[in-house]
Amino acid sequence: MPYGFPFQKMQDLYDSLAGAEFQLPQPGCVDTLKKPVQGKGFTLKNPMVVQPMEGCDSDEGGAPTDWTLRRYRRFAKGGAGLIWVEAVSVLPEGRANPAQLMITEENKEAFRNMINEIHKAADESGIERPKVIAQLTHSGRWSRPVDAKMPIRAWTSPVLDPHQNLPQDWPIISDEELEEIPAMFAKSTKLLREVGFDGVDVKACHLYLMSEMLGAVDREGPNGGSYENRTRIYLKCVEAAREEIAGGILAARINLYDGQAGNWGVGENLSLNLEEPLRLVKDLEARGVTLLNITMGTPYFNPHVNRPYARGGYEQPENPVLGVARLLYGCKRAQETAPELVCVATGMSYLRQYAPEIAAGLIEQGGAKAIGWGRGSFAYPDFARDIIANSKMEPNKCCVTCGVCTKIMRQPTGRPGCPVRDTEWYHPEFLRVLGGKK
Ligand SMILES: Cc1cc2nc3c(=O)[nH]c(=O)nc-3n(C[C@H](O)[C@H](O)[C@H](O)COP(=O)(O)O)c2cc1C
Repeated sequence: MPYGFPFQKMQDLYDSLAGAEFQLPQPGCVDTLKKPVQGKGFTLKNPMVVQPMEGCDSDEGGAPTDWTLRRYRRFAKGGAGLIWVEAVSVLPEGRANPAQLMITEENKEAFRNMINEIHKAADESGIERPKVIAQLTHSGRWSRPVDAKMPIRAWTSPVLDPHQNLPQDWPIISDEELEEIPAMFAKSTKLLREVGFDGVDVKACHLYLMSEMLGAVDREGPNGGSYENRTRIYLKCVEAAREEIAGGILAARINLYDGQAGNWGVGENLSLNLEEPLRLVKDLEARGVTLLNITMGTPYFNPHVNRPYARGGYEQPENPVLGVARLLYGCKRAQETAPELVCVATGMSYLRQYAPEIAAGLIEQGGAKAIGWGRGSFAYPDFARDIIANSKMEPNKCCVTCGVCTKIMRQPTGRPGCPVRDTEWYHPEFLRVLGGKK
């Protein structure tokens, strides 16, 4: 599929999928996006979600900086019902970059301030406060806690090891080390709840550690092989977080399908095999998870699966609309499997101004209860306000999925944002780390 966005009207998106394995939901009524969402034990003022989007702009110790606060104030003013705060590491070695957020006893007041700033921004805009939850992570094989990659792998992956140039004898995280991780999720949950976050997400997506464990079929011992073994540590992390959630929202962001990058959810010829992932959905629900964010792939290996784009590191082997349709199909299957959960769909940004009607259609057809925008939130933080006020998104404010935010992020000190739409802060950043080169 050539780069770009060759769609002049919404019907063109549908036409591009004629005969394809996955289809977009039929468009719905945008008013659906203006109604509150009732979850088990929580209400969202509307179903629109700011997806977790790392800004790589914490201080050395993991506390939010002025850059972080500015991003979240803009999201709060933007009117979405839920702000799903980006990855927050549960331990120093598991940070994906040296500027990844990490909450500790020492810096927790900075996180309290972050929540206060979010609330203040909503109050000052005269809008109801959004719910705010944070994603807890261990970056596993994508760890880069200092300015060098320090992968902590779950098993010997025949695909990702060569991709990362990892030698055969590179260590694999031991069962003893894994046993220590649930307590870290518990500790971070306690701190986040103490300072005012509405809940936490125990992350198992994008081939970070917990996600990679899910597909560790060839790992030996108690954490590899069978479904029960592969999900054991992750479910322990969820249970550990639940112990400290104190009435808050227990959430999870999970991969339903790794694509070629891993085994989870993958059938013959890279087809979707959702048997185990949907079993996990039920297992998470049984452990008290009430909010589930559905995603696929990994940005490091198969970004076309993870976030379909108009422009990226390689030419996509498929129509990006198909990638969006696959993501939405996965969410629908999860939502149908656990109708009581609030499932959040991923992949809207590529659809630009056509997203609201398609998002509404997905909800109306039972495929999700909430819809997230990722790159779109960087470019257009007030998308929800526009949808509520005008029933549409402005084409000239939409994300163009050009990949520059990710390119900035891959540079050693790059702070990703949108240099196309948020020029004041992020165009200089684009010049600083990429010399202005797309
Ligand atoms: C710069 C950048 C940072 C991201 N940070 C996170 C993150 O912290 N946690 C996460 O689960 N996903 C993260 N994602 C993935 C997004 O949440 C989302 O799944 C992806 O961009 C696809 O949604 P979209 O099409 O709306 O952008 C990130 C993506 C980008 C481009």
